[in-house]
Amino acid sequence: MTSAKTPYQILGEDGIRVLTSTFYDVMDTLPEAKALRAMHTKDLSPMKEKLAEYLTGWMGGPPLYAYRYGTVCMTSPREPYHIGPEERDQWLLCMDKALVEIEAGEELTQMLKEPLFRIADAIRNREGPSARASNPDILASH
Ligand code: HEM
Repeated sequence: MTSAKTPYQILGEDGIRVLTSTFYDVMDTLPEAKALRAMHTKDLSPMKEKLAEYLTGWMGGPPLYAYRYGTVCMTSPREPYHIGPEERDQWLLCMDKALVEIEAGEELTQMLKEPLFRIADAIRNREGPSARASNPDILASH
């Protein structure tokens, strides 16, 4: 009997780090992701690390994010932000482009497509169109 590989087995921990680093670099430069980028702090390095840890567990590897932060609740860090369908789609677009850039291949891309949509849609906290570009840190300092 053959058993299908998990995305973690295909990419490995290093591959997941390359993916998340590429993902945030895409977010940093893609004009279509401007509103999404504006929600994040200037330095994206901590986010590269956090997303890599999160995705390692989510893709079937060791739950590094839960080990470090003791929780995998994905909604509370984003409570202050307006995340509607447009922001969700910007996130997914950055991930699509990152997968192309790292040459993830058709099989892995297809494997991730539906689950990534589901998790991004679960994070959505608004129905409506969009979205003030807002970062509460910036707002708090004014
Ligand atoms: C749906 C669209 C999404 C938007 C607009 C969004 C936006 C954000 C923002 C603004 C933060 C906080 C950044 C900060 O503290 O500076 C964040 C944190 C995070 N996001 Fe997302 N995100 C989205 C989807 C996702 C998805 C689908 C995943 C995982 C597959 C993910 C994983 C994470 C992780 C692991 C963190 C770090 C949480 C922490 O502070 O410990 N995000 N996100």
